[in-house]
Formats: sequence, structure tokens, C-alpha cells
Amino acid sequence: MARMVRILKLTLNGRVRNDATPDNLLLLDYLRETVGLTGTKTGCDGGECGACTVLIDDQPRLSCLTLAAQVDGCRVDTIESLGSDGRLSALQRGFHEKLGSQCGYCTPGFIMASAGLLRRNPRPTDDEIRDALGSNICRCTGYVKIVEAVKYAADLHAAGVAP
Ligand code: FES
Ligand code: FES
Repeated sequence: MARMVRILKLTLNGRVRNDATPDNLLLLDYLRETVGLTGTKTGCDGGECGACTVLIDDQPRLSCLTLAAQVDGCRVDTIESLGSDGRLSALQRGFHEKLGSQCGYCTPGFIMASAGLLRRNPRPTDDEIRDALGSNICRCTGYVKIVEAVKYAADLHAAGVAP
């Protein structure tokens, strides 16, 4: 049977794109394979780990459970959207300086879930950070440094650094 293909229109990391896309293509595969943005990681591939988290209209979503067709007309932001002109964003600095990037593989998902949090709540408490990152799994070390990184990023953001 012929695959249905649509022209997917979205704003990806601030730029409008139109791509011929099969209806059954996952957003994760669209980002990594069609567009070539490999910062978004495949972890469990089943909605369990959070490594594939991106922002859809500012809301953290699992790209392994989302069809590309579902983001037609939406804004999608990936880890590649952060930082500009060679300067790290507040979250990138937080994860780097506070050692929140322990393995690196889960980090893009943690950072994008945190970006969604800071967009709706710029001064989160520890509990709010833990709650917002509840769908993201660290299998190697733990969450203390990650929570510290997000708190530090919130402080940097309050001081004027882009989140
Ligand atoms: S790869 Fe999507 S939740 Fe694990
Ligand atoms: S920091 Fe990535 S699995 Fe622990």
C-alpha cells in the first residue's frame, strides 16, 4: 500500500520549514534523519526515559511518541535552539558549570524539559524542578547536580542571560 505523504509546515528552532513527510514518521525520526538535528536523543524509544524531549509550542513533549504530522503548524524547539553567537544559554551554562551533564546522553532531554519549566515558571523551587523533570531518567548518577544546574540557570536567567 502506498504511504501517505504530506507537506509538513512548522517553525523549527525559529525557522519556517516545509518538508514532504510520511504520515507515519515519528517526530524524533523527522528531527534526526530528515532535518539532521541529532541533538535530540533516542533512549528507550518507548516513552519511558525522556531523552527525546523537545518543546512543542513551549510544552515539553516526547518526540518518540509524537508523529511529525501532529506538529503541523506548531513551533518546535530542540536543544540546537539554545545559545546564540557562540554564547551558551543559561541552561547550557548551568548544566556545564554545575556538572549537570554527567553522561551527556540524557542531557538534551533534561535541558529541554527544564527549558519548558523556565518558560512557564522562571523561579522554580527544588520540588517544582524535580516535578518538571519527573519524566526524565538518569541511569548513571543521580539528580542532585541536575537540580542544582536548573536552579543556577534560573538565577542566570533572572540576571538577563537567555534561558
Ligand atoms: S526515547 Fe522517548 S522517552 Fe525514551
Ligand atoms: S546523566 Fe545521563 S544517564 Fe545519568
